[in-house]
Amino acid sequence: MTPLDYLDKHQQRFIDDLCTYVRFPSVSAQPQHSPDVRACADWVALRCRQIGLETTLHQTSGNPLVVAKTPKHDPRKPTFLVYGHYDVQPPEPFDLWKSAPFEPRVEGRNLYGRGASDNKGQHLAHLNAVEAFLATGTELPVNVTFLIEGEEEVGCGGLYGFLPKNKELLACDAVVISDNGIPSLKHPTLTYALRGIVALEIRLEGPSRDLHSGLFGGTVENPAMALCQLLGKMRDRKGRVTIPGFYDDVQKLSRYERQQLAKLPHSDTSYRRLVGVPQLFGEVGFTVEEQRTCRPTFEINGLTSGYQGEGSKTIIPCWASAKLTIRLVPDQKPARIVAAVRKYLKSLCPPTVRLKISDGHGGEPYLCSPTSPLAQAALKALEAGYGYPGALAREGGSIPIVNRFRSELGADTLLLGMALPDDNAHSPNEKFNLDSFESGMRMAAHLWPLLAQAHAAD
Ligand code: BES
Ligand code: ZN
Repeated sequence: MTPLDYLDKHQQRFIDDLCTYVRFPSVSAQPQHSPDVRACADWVALRCRQIGLETTLHQTSGNPLVVAKTPKHDPRKPTFLVYGHYDVQPPEPFDLWKSAPFEPRVEGRNLYGRGASDNKGQHLAHLNAVEAFLATGTELPVNVTFLIEGEEEVGCGGLYGFLPKNKELLACDAVVISDNGIPSLKHPTLTYALRGIVALEIRLEGPSRDLHSGLFGGTVENPAMALCQLLGKMRDRKGRVTIPGFYDDVQKLSRYERQQLAKLPHSDTSYRRLVGVPQLFGEVGFTVEEQRTCRPTFEINGLTSGYQGEGSKTIIPCWASAKLTIRLVPDQKPARIVAAVRKYLKSLCPPTVRLKISDGHGGEPYLCSPTSPLAQAALKALEAGYGYPGALAREGGSIPIVNRFRSELGADTLLLGMALPDDNAHSPNEKFNLDSFESGMRMAAHLWPLLAQAHAAD
């Protein structure tokens, strides 16, 4: 039996396995789920061992991670590292889910559940493809190392410490990641760029305690109002971020890239419907696809201040805070942007409140060659798996670890996403499309011989 026949034959079991995997509420952001996170890592390790991979479970400064290798790595063959994450985003708000987030449900060709697409289903497809080689006794022309970690959704802390100490364990010629999306099943895509990110939290402190807004209002600055005014100055009406120097290092898009991006299927109307807004907003002078993947942004992710309970409470809140992230594009540097944001916020903050800024996680933007021999081989694997020619795209999301793979392991990353735009990653009713799961597995099975050939010819 060929690996492809094996994949066909075991589809139902693969779906059942994905359901088992999704049942673990492996939410890395919420400390109450840390036993679930550990149980999930154990399950990944078990699954890898069952397939026949040489598997080790590693404690890190944070959540455990799994390293699993195809048996007896052969030094004459190239080695590829497949990276994925078993942690998931918080499922809240629960009431918007049609079925419970950790009770997977198959409806038509979709499997619903938190983490189904981001990222459990996608790296499981790679594990299943390697299982198909091992179980059918088909020689793999490459060595594969799986690295499945548990903190991607909170900034990869544990892995950042682990990586430099385990370079030999993770040594590879290139990295393969399926933790991103494709525009449609008919447009399988090799992603050659990702946005970077910096996270900040700002807090404005006013009076020493919440004050009666009737007795004191008009004499004391309201921190919530000051925060709104401050944040309101961060972007102009043309959708451009106003922080001085913000765009200094942004690479100009070449005509070639703009042409490539314009080939991707896109309709402003269906995009608007997908996101559910009355009208689209974005930086003037760029298409939606360019705005979403090639331009930097300043986003407020959370705003907190004052009374949040039922009914009203007439106070001047004593503080207001905002969680912010800024998406970066090549060649913006996280440290330079954080410094520019800090300086600008300080210069605008009124003397009537105290400003506190704390830096969070960050990661550089990523860009690699879409025309390298490995990239060309990956495009062929996409076509073989999905039955449509592979396209090139940039993506708006961030996978900060790809830059560490480059700096620590000297390896570039091929991004071969399987998620669809309506998969609801990070949103209620996350799902994974089972046709993409199936095509993704086939793509993954075609990938290894094609990469081996390209590597040998290079
Ligand atoms: N899978 C996503 C990243 C992604 C999604 C990349 C779609 C490209 C296209 C990943 O799990 C994720 O959500 N990353 C975070 C990173 C952050 C927490 C540092 C993100 O992009 O917000
Ligand atoms: Zn995610």
